[in-house]
Amino acid sequence: MIEHFSPHQTGLPGDEAERRTHELETLHKLAQRIAESLDSREVLTRALEVLISMGWFDCGEAFIKTGKKASVASLELCVEEDPETCSLRSGLIDDVEAAFKAGELRRGDRWQLVPIEKSSLLALVGGSGASVSQAFLEAVRDLVSASLKRTELHQRLTSKERQRSRLLQALLHAQEEERGRISRDLHDQIGQALTAILLGLDKASLEPEPQQLKQLKELTSITLGDVRRIAMDLRPSLLDELGLEAAIKRYAREIHERYALEISVFVRLPTRLSHEEETVLYRVVQEAITNVVRHAEAQRASVVVTSSNKHVKLVVEDDGGGFDPGALTPGEQLGITGMRERIELLGGSFRLESAPARGCAVFARLPVRYSYAV
Ligand SMILES: Nc1ncnc2c1ncn2[C@@H]1O[C@H](COP(=O)(O)OP(=O)(O)OP(=O)(O)O)[C@@H](O)[C@H]1O
Ligand SMILES: [Mg+2]
Repeated sequence: MIEHFSPHQTGLPGDEAERRTHELETLHKLAQRIAESLDSREVLTRALEVLISMGWFDCGEAFIKTGKKASVASLELCVEEDPETCSLRSGLIDDVEAAFKAGELRRGDRWQLVPIEKSSLLALVGGSGASVSQAFLEAVRDLVSASLKRTELHQRLTSKERQRSRLLQALLHAQEEERGRISRDLHDQIGQALTAILLGLDKASLEPEPQQLKQLKELTSITLGDVRRIAMDLRPSLLDELGLEAAIKRYAREIHERYALEISVFVRLPTRLSHEEETVLYRVVQEAITNVVRHAEAQRASVVVTSSNKHVKLVVEDDGGGFDPGALTPGEQLGITGMRERIELLGGSFRLESAPARGCAVFARLPVRYSYAV
């Protein structure tokens, strides 16, 4: 409910001191009211409410620019039952568009237009508005603008937070699945093989037979291979021992053997990167190539890692069917989001380009903390 009290009752506009006091009261109330909201539409509506209830205007509307056109965000403070029939509204949209374009306060015959940032505007009419000072309206604009910035920041943080928690859930889920798989591998493959070796050794210790010992040796070497594979899946030791290039090349060879995908790898780095940087780039290559295998139906892919003195750049490209990235639901793509998050966590930037029938390219850029002698 809007309570009205007119500044005329306090002596305005004649009494300059009282007008100033009333302006300050209004600004104080405005700051309080809009600080309580984290929704941009509500901030604008509350701003209108305060300006009207403090007697400066009779009614008003807030506009929010969506795309090219200004759309009415709040009609609640229009005195007409049906705002469309309001006689004051004719030509208003044109004036609003012009005020948006100019980006400055406009004092028209009927309306006072107060653009707030590039995408919102307050249109106010009546009351003692004719006597309202430019400085006062500018203060109103600044307060509302700061509040809108705060709500926008809050919205961005909330959506980032939601995305992060979804990603975390997915990572935890993937981790659980991986643990399950490793546990099954250890139990079914390694456990059974070691049991067979143990039984064979028991028997051989009683009456050694060359043929059986040979079989036991073979089984031991297969089991060793399995252990190496599981360890490699968990963390490629090559990455720690020989670095990114060797690890990516080994991974590309394995993928080629399994899926017949041709992958060319070109890595030119003057020195080793940090443990974190190498791990992140390796995981991004793994996810990007896994996507090529799963979705692209490509013949060829390439992985290129190069550096300048400030950045390391990674490009993974394929010649497959591609897709329309715009058609993906934001935040739903855990593989792509995961790549982006990993790179951004190290202060880097990530970009994916693709179009139907045009393949796909993933670009990642990481800042490096030390200088390379290229
Ligand atoms: N190289 C590619 N070629 C064609 N389509 C791709 C490629 N990379 C990604 N896509 C498309 O983008 C979608 C999202 O990829 P993303 O990696 O985020 O998820 P996903 O691979 O479906 O599942 P996961 O979360 O297991 O990675 C894929 O489902 C696929 O449609
Ligand atoms: Mg994926």
